[in-house]
Amino acid sequence: MKTANPKAYRNYFRQRTANQWHKIEAEAGIPGAIRPFLAGNWKMNMIPRSGVALTARILDICRDIKDVDIGLAPPFTGLSTLADYIKPDFLRTEYGLGRNVFLLAQDTFFESKGAFTGEISPEMLAAIGVDRVIIGHSDRRANLGKYYGFGSSVARRLTGGFLSSQLKKLKEKDGADAQVIAALEHLSAKGNQDILAGLARFLEEELRERAGESDEAIQLKIRAALAQGLQVILCCGENREARDANETFNLLDRQLRMALEVVSPRAVSEMIIAYEPVWAIGEGAKPATLEQISEVHDFIRNLIMDLYGEQIASSIRILYGGNVKPDNIVDIMNIAGVDGALVGGASLKANDFASIIRFGLNT
Ligand code: 13P
Repeated sequence: MKTANPKAYRNYFRQRTANQWHKIEAEAGIPGAIRPFLAGNWKMNMIPRSGVALTARILDICRDIKDVDIGLAPPFTGLSTLADYIKPDFLRTEYGLGRNVFLLAQDTFFESKGAFTGEISPEMLAAIGVDRVIIGHSDRRANLGKYYGFGSSVARRLTGGFLSSQLKKLKEKDGADAQVIAALEHLSAKGNQDILAGLARFLEEELRERAGESDEAIQLKIRAALAQGLQVILCCGENREARDANETFNLLDRQLRMALEVVSPRAVSEMIIAYEPVWAIGEGAKPATLEQISEVHDFIRNLIMDLYGEQIASSIRILYGGNVKPDNIVDIMNIAGVDGALVGGASLKANDFASIIRFGLNT
């Protein structure tokens, strides 16, 4: 592991040269300098009391770390309790910290209220003191189909009998889509049973792999969160299949352009983007290489420059997520375009997450 110069990482400016982004060392504590953001995403772990205990141990080890922003994302059930614990006055007297500990929610719904059993709105989050919300995490973009079984419920319906009855209903309807009618007629015809069964299995597998939050839903969530004054951590990242097919940049381009369509230059300057390659996340996976991280962060920053100009591009914080641990954080933070990390597994261990927050100071 490289030895770190804490000053270089804890507070820095950035300049752009020949389409590359560089950090420049700055004195600690300079207003307007870029502050690293280290966020722990607890995912579905921790009951409220354990979350507070974990937070207390982390902050105890990180006393007086004022030049790094710290984010904690408990599950919904832990937000209120943690909000009470990390009140600024208390942090100041107890741990000597400034306003640099932020409460994060892991998701939000986009409607403000109504018959949406089980969902939580941005209003509700804002009302209990949430600062930021993570939107578009890959656990939600890609993994829901596996657990919710959308695929099998579609597959079960793709029978000749079901299609014929739907066809009958459609034909009685004014303005029904002629192409849909033709397709249903074809598929429900007697000789096509095998094709139908094959199609059902294909769709079942596709939905199992892919069903999850769409780019459209993510856009709605961002709009709703910003309207309530919540800041956003927007996640993006490619899966293994896209990386192997050299589709990484196309996919990131699509994810980000769609999400940012509803974000004004003013709002985007407060936003944080997290690059989390799906294949690098979780136990047993390997983090992306430093070259891969660097290349993608430059790509994202250049995309932001295209959309919002150089000033915003040079100040927006872009985090990396995917197996960030105490032993790789210094090298990752040393990459020119990396401004922090979104940490899963290691954020559940007080010593590990505290070392990550104290990157560069652990020697
Ligand atoms: P890990 O750090 O456990 O790989 O998780 C990364 C992540 O998904 C954070 O949001």
